[in-house]
Amino acid sequence: MKKIVIALDGHSACGKSTLAKFLAKELSYVYIDSGAMYRAVTLYCLNNGIINNDADIKKEDVVESLGRINISFNYNRTSGNSDTFLNGLRVEDEIREMRVSNFVSAISKIKEVREKLVEFQQNLGKNKSVVMDGRDIGTVVFPDAELKLWITAKVDIRAARRYKEYLEGGHEVSLEDVIENVKSRDFNDSNRKESPLVKAEDAIEIDNSFLSKQETFQKAISLVNEKLIS
Ligand code: DC
Repeated sequence: MKKIVIALDGHSACGKSTLAKFLAKELSYVYIDSGAMYRAVTLYCLNNGIINNDADIKKEDVVESLGRINISFNYNRTSGNSDTFLNGLRVEDEIREMRVSNFVSAISKIKEVREKLVEFQQNLGKNKSVVMDGRDIGTVVFPDAELKLWITAKVDIRAARRYKEYLEGGHEVSLEDVIENVKSRDFNDSNRKESPLVKAEDAIEIDNSFLSKQETFQKAISLVNEKLIS
């Protein structure tokens, strides 16, 4: 069977990771969550006093800390997914918290952070048979990916889904804060200088505003199958 790279890009909270996990399971591919890496760097900065408040992120301190940050992924038998580890500690839940979401765009616009993480992502994907999701996978990380999907949904629908996830996870957040966070990350990710979020010219768009997870998966897997037999 042909081995391919599947790149999933799109705005925050549009179901990329859910779709990527479904695809990886179906195809027995490796799923790589590139956003988890930017979140892990952000968490390190929060836990080590490098981020204090919005106005006070010192780029030099973030860059200097990169040598002390080791990110890895380990398979979790219970969930059937990979968990993110930061310097040997499991941070899978912590990196999804709002305090991390609030600063991750500011960290992910730093050129040196991106260079380090892109190199890591390219290494993880070099043997193909990989599904990777993020913001620049089809444009920067794997510009030659055999299949590029651009996943999107209306902003209010995305925010409502993310809000529900927070509540289900026992996190106390307001819907207004989640809407604000999703909108500001959309803006920051799309307008940053380094590798902004843009749809690759050869990406195929799936708008899942009114599709269930299963319907989104069906659309995507038929596109994958077309690639695998072509
Ligand atoms: O996919 P996510 O929401 O967990 O990503 C968190 C943030 O990380 C997102 O707001 C922008 C950044 N990111 C990025 O800049 N490039 C990627 N390939 C993945 C994520």
